[in-house]
Formats: sequence, C-alpha cells, structure tokens
Amino acid sequence: MRHFLTLADYTKEEILEILELASQIKKETKNKEFKEYMPKQTLGMIFEKSSTRTRVSFETGIYQLGGVGLFLSSNDIQLGRGEPLSDTSRVISSMVDMVMIRTFGHEKIEEFTKYSKVPVINGLTTEYHPVQLMADYMTIQEAGLDKDLVVAYVGDGNNLAHSWLNLCAKLGFELRIATPKGYEVNSNILDRALEMAKLSGAKISIGNDPKVAVQGSTVVTTDTWVSMGQEDEKEQRLKDFDGYIVDQNMMSLAQSNAIFLHCLPAYRGYEVSEEVMEGSQSLIFEEAENRLHAQKGVMVWLDRKRNS
Ligand code: CP
Ligand code: NVA
Repeated sequence: MRHFLTLADYTKEEILEILELASQIKKETKNKEFKEYMPKQTLGMIFEKSSTRTRVSFETGIYQLGGVGLFLSSNDIQLGRGEPLSDTSRVISSMVDMVMIRTFGHEKIEEFTKYSKVPVINGLTTEYHPVQLMADYMTIQEAGLDKDLVVAYVGDGNNLAHSWLNLCAKLGFELRIATPKGYEVNSNILDRALEMAKLSGAKISIGNDPKVAVQGSTVVTTDTWVSMGQEDEKEQRLKDFDGYIVDQNMMSLAQSNAIFLHCLPAYRGYEVSEEVMEGSQSLIFEEAENRLHAQKGVMVWLDRKRNS
C-alpha cells in the first residue's frame, strides 16, 4: 500500500504515470464519460485548515469516480477536542477506503499514516503541498512547456516552494527560487532536493533577487506571503516582502511565451498584481481546475497499487 505524502517518496516514472492517468481520466470526464474507477469507495477528508479548491476537488473527484467524500472539519470531529491522531486514524481508516488530510506540521500526517489501514493523501501541511504540484505540472504539460522547463518561484520559502523543490529534483528541470532574506526554504528539504537532483540532472538555484530568478524563465509562480497559521506575522511579512510582487515588469523578464501560475487564493496587490492575474499569460484557473483531474489520477493510482 502506498501513501501520497510528499513527492520525494515518488520516482519520476511514478509521477509521470499518475499524470498520464490523470490526463486520460480528464479526457473521459470532458466527454461526460464518468467511469467508476472507485465504485462505492469513501474518501475521508480531514481539514484542520480552511480550503476551497482542495475540498471541492477531492469531494467532486471521488464522486465522479463512483465513490463519496466525507468532509471532516477538525472543528466538528473529536480530533479538535483533543482525541489523539493515532486513535482518530485507527477509527476513521477502519471505515473509509482512503483518507486525505490538510493539517499543520508534516509530522502530524506522518503520525496519522503510521496508524492508517488505508492510503493517506497530503492535502497540504505546513511543509508540503504535493497534490498542488501535480496540478501545476499537468498545466505546464498542457501548455506544452514541459520541455526545457525553467521555473521561477518568487516569494516565501514555504510549502509550495518545498514541493517545487521536490518536483524539480525528481523530474530534472531547472528551478530558481528567490525569497527575501530570512524567508529561505528549509535547509534540510533543500539539501535532500540537491541530493536527488544529482540523479535527475535538475538544476536548482536559490537567491534573494526575484529579477535574476525570473530572467528567461518559462514559468513564473508565487504564493501568498502569509500562509495559514502565520496570521500574527502578517504586518512584518508585508514589509519584508516589499519588492517581491510579480507584476507586469517582472513578467516581462521571462520568455515571451512564459506562463504565470498561482495555487490560489491570491492576494492581488501583494504577491501578484491584478494585471498579471488577469493577463494573457495567467493560467491560474486552468491550474485550479486541474486540481480535480490530477487528484483523480492520484486516487485511482493509489487504489490500483493497493489492489495489485
Ligand atoms: N490551492 C489550494 O490548496 O487552495 P485551497 O486552500 O482553497 O484548498
Ligand atoms: N502556502 C499557503 C498555500 C495555501 C493553498 C498556505 O499554506 O496557507
């Protein structure tokens, strides 16, 4: 049985296989052909943080695959009142067929997974957001930019940046990360990515100048400067991230056919300008829709692994 906790646990071949499956199911879905890949299966969806895309895409996704999703907000289940994760995991995984969790520290999802009888999918932790990156790469493939790919990530060295590091290290493209000083990526995650990059030939550069990162890139991406759980740091962060907005001037440094991606929700006027969000290079809504398709690929793949 496999889980989907970080992209570091997956090989390049496995990531591409899941994406191929996702594309095939997307085509079928677009033709209104809803094949029941997971009939009568239940997906438990535990949320300790807010969500629009993750919730809607997983719930819709499992339904279209022939199953049903259970939205379990930690405010409503006993987990929020202190029931241990180990007990929660053994109880829920004895009743459902697959679990998706959005939580805080990555060690929490690892703890849950240790006790789970069914595959567990990471729907975002403080450290990683792997399902988002599957949707992002699917969008890049569809835009025909997966060859000679140069991704510039501008902003906070957060869960998105870490998952970009893992994806790049596995698939072997070029990734340039520019963060303000003091907001760099986690050094352990970076070291691990650099180690994996030796195998794949990925090129990773880390710096503090967004213009250097964006120059000549084919994908420009960013994320909120204030992630969930960091609300108390908002005032300081807005000052520290001054100059890191992806605006049209910044985009003009990228290649002319470059695209802009953002996992959303986006804060216009902070990490990205209105003009870029709504501009012709922006594929943010295609990217958001691909959450549905990419995650259906992940769920079906995990289900097949369990049954093989
Ligand atoms: N990108 C993303 O995960 O969005 P939600 O927080 O709305 O799920
Ligand atoms: N980095 C953001 C992503 C939200 C989808 C957060 O963790 O809040």
